[in-house]
Amino acid sequence: MDLGGTNFRVCSIKLHGDTTFSLTQSKVAIPRELMVAKTSQELFSFLAKQIESFLKQHHNDHFEGFHQKREAGQDLTDEHFFKLGFTFSFPVNQIGINKGHLIRWTKGFDIADAIGKDVCALLQAEIDALHLPVKVAALVNDTVGTLMARSYTSPGKTGTLLGGIFGTGTNGAYVEKLDKVTKLKKMEVKGDFDSTTGNMIINTEWGSFDNEMSVLPNTPYDDALDKESNNPGIQMFEKRVSGMFLGEILRRAILAMIKDGKTELFSDESSKTNDVHSTCTIADDSPLYKQWGLDTSFLSIAHGDQSQGYRITRQALSKDLGVDAASSEDAEAIKIITEAIGKRSARLSAVAIGAVIIATGNLTLTAGEAVDDEHKQLIEEEVVDVGVDGSLVEYYPGFEQYVRDALREIEGIGEKGEKRIRIGIAKDGSGVGAALIALVAGGIDGP
Ligand code: BGC
Repeated sequence: MDLGGTNFRVCSIKLHGDTTFSLTQSKVAIPRELMVAKTSQELFSFLAKQIESFLKQHHNDHFEGFHQKREAGQDLTDEHFFKLGFTFSFPVNQIGINKGHLIRWTKGFDIADAIGKDVCALLQAEIDALHLPVKVAALVNDTVGTLMARSYTSPGKTGTLLGGIFGTGTNGAYVEKLDKVTKLKKMEVKGDFDSTTGNMIINTEWGSFDNEMSVLPNTPYDDALDKESNNPGIQMFEKRVSGMFLGEILRRAILAMIKDGKTELFSDESSKTNDVHSTCTIADDSPLYKQWGLDTSFLSIAHGDQSQGYRITRQALSKDLGVDAASSEDAEAIKIITEAIGKRSARLSAVAIGAVIIATGNLTLTAGEAVDDEHKQLIEEEVVDVGVDGSLVEYYPGFEQYVRDALREIEGIGEKGEKRIRIGIAKDGSGVGAALIALVAGGIDGP
């Protein structure tokens, strides 16, 4: 199951063992009130109930069989339980494969009593309260899932270096040599991990890069967005990059232009004459006046608009934002601001991707330094493989191209390096990756 974006998903996955898989899923939007519930129990019991209805709908034979056995007092062993991979995409201090304490919430979630608790235990308690045949076998960040899924689904041998999410939030996870993970020696609670491969997957939580704002670009709109968010001063990189925030930056920029009479946005002469009898109007209840009222999907529409007179953007202004009879100049202005916001997001994303590639020395490694055989093959083929997922990479026009343009400008990557970077979508990565990890963590027995 997957918690951490706009939707909550429960899926069951059959891995065919040949890079392919089949997936059955149910998806619900997380009710906003649960994101800021008074107690974590409210959220986790909702999640457990979703698992219950999923099992009833898609695995009813097993579900019923399990309950009959339980009621008859029969012994229930591991193979009676589904192994659950729990993709929980928030910063966690992970101390075991199915154990991790929540450090802080992000992306609009805010439930104080969960901080510091083991999120797997919170979930298992609610699953057990409903007597479901499910054991939480693995705790997985969505970036780690993406990295795993990309490695599984890419044809041929792949030693994927980095899994990145550019969706509601942003983050990346990559493969590091164990002896470079100095934090392990300093950890107060010693983690439980398998050291046989000599590698460790690092969840960078780059969304909180430069919270002190020493290098990140800043505008009055970023500042105001941050101050009025429920986690001011945190996730400063994410607040300039990811889907949850881009719409809000645009909304604030538009409002500032409307207030500043000099720009004539939505009030220039042509918007008055453009549509013979109409004057541009903004509805009193326009989402433009509400915090988070402007969805990032609007940016994708405006940014990609090639229609004559920006008809598509004008339609979206009317339908989504209650701005009627905007002129083509108005729409063009919106498109220009949108491009600036989208391009900045993509270029910052390139900074994060480029940083991992440079820090791991992947463009300069020799075969002898590879972390494993698959990696060695990639080094020989001169490819650095990156798996990505999320609404920006999937739907934002030209996102990858902007990332690539910026990668070429980074010292240490350049044109030659950029060509060697292979970026591929790992669709549903967080679900498939969690299943892969649950499988490995829980052993192969099970329904
Ligand atoms: C979270 C990360 C997550 C990312 C993408 C961020 O807000 O802190 O853990 O990977 O969003 O979902």
